[in-house]
Amino acid sequence: MKVLVTGGMGYIGSHTCIALHKAGITPVIYDNLSNASTKVIEQLAQITGKTFEYIVADVGDRQALTSALKAHKIQAVFHFAALKAVGESTQQPIRYYQNNVANTLTMLDVMSLMNVKNLIFSSSATVYGDPQYLPIDENHPISSTNPYGWSKVMVEQALKDLAASDKQWLTIALRYFNPVGADKSGLIGESPKGIPNNLMPFIAQTAVGRRDSISVFGHDYDTPDGTGVRDYIHISDLAQGHVDAFLNHQSEEGSYAYNLGTGQGYTVLEMIKAFAKTANKEIPYDFAPRRSGDIACNYADAGLAKRKLGWQAKRGLDSMTEDTWRWQTNYPNGLE
Ligand code: NAD
Ligand code: WQD
Repeated sequence: MKVLVTGGMGYIGSHTCIALHKAGITPVIYDNLSNASTKVIEQLAQITGKTFEYIVADVGDRQALTSALKAHKIQAVFHFAALKAVGESTQQPIRYYQNNVANTLTMLDVMSLMNVKNLIFSSSATVYGDPQYLPIDENHPISSTNPYGWSKVMVEQALKDLAASDKQWLTIALRYFNPVGADKSGLIGESPKGIPNNLMPFIAQTAVGRRDSISVFGHDYDTPDGTGVRDYIHISDLAQGHVDAFLNHQSEEGSYAYNLGTGQGYTVLEMIKAFAKTANKEIPYDFAPRRSGDIACNYADAGLAKRKLGWQAKRGLDSMTEDTWRWQTNYPNGLE
């Protein structure tokens, strides 16, 4: 069976291609290279022993997408392609809505026309906004605090409406908590352009000497050590969650949403300490003011995915730091 993986050369999409391949599902990668390089294809070939087919095109390109679905007899789409920087989305909201919402709607229309009515969508825990209770389950109210988050809320709503309007559609929104880590081969991983927005890449780049020190944003939160708590999930566990969601909903229709998290929260200082132990070096940090828009604490109730999909994160904090460190030391500047 062949599936289209939009954004398949990116961080989460590329790891999901490995999990799909292991499950006997053939990914066809579809990426416009706006935040990736074709070097990923070579790395994936080294890891899996298979050269994946890929198409360089935009999700908003109706013709290219139609040809891809037809030529490869695609049965489902795993839709990772999006812009993802929260801060940038507040500066360039229309660019975010255009790419994350408008292009996705175009894609859904093309899929409908081509009768490919099976979609796995990259959503985010950001759709829960400021948590009203913890751990967060899928029934928590949906909202957002920034255009990136709203783009995910809007697409989730469109998916629900689409599945309600046409009983042949199956849509699954996977709400990721904080993806970190890298494939254990150390051949692919996360390599943000410019200064990392997220904690883990910032820690890794500091450990490898690309940055002098980490600013810890706020140490007066109501958390065990005053720093922010998040539910970090290993990228290979997250990738497997896509496969399990897809396989468990075969021949079903309707719209579904699942949290993909571990249920376990760690503070910023715990993350720095764990990484320092793995890298066997001190990682300098200083305390800075709270980052605007940040919440104190966020972690998942991952029970629904366990009950319905039989999926559960297996890898702990040691794997997250060790696999990140292997990737970071192999490719300190990412895949160039
Ligand atoms: P990424 O930037 O590494 O991957 C996205 C890929 O999509 C890139 O390869 C980019 O070139 C491609 N792309 C973007 N717009 C495109 C378009 N219009 N047409 C074709 N290709 C396009 O990001 P990621 O971290 O792998 O994120 C994947 C998905 O998961 C995104 O939808 C993101 O919003 C979501 N997500 C990410 C996180 C996270 O922390 N990384 C958390 C929650 C949700
Ligand atoms: C984690 C913790 C920071 C950097 C974001 C998006 C979310 C999702 C994942 C896509 C917080 C602290 C961070 C630094 C720090 N993306 N921190 N110094 O904010 O939970 O989520 O990425 O969907 O939508 O909002 O992740 O990694 O940025 O921050 O102290 O240099 O680390 O304050 O407590 P976040 P993060």
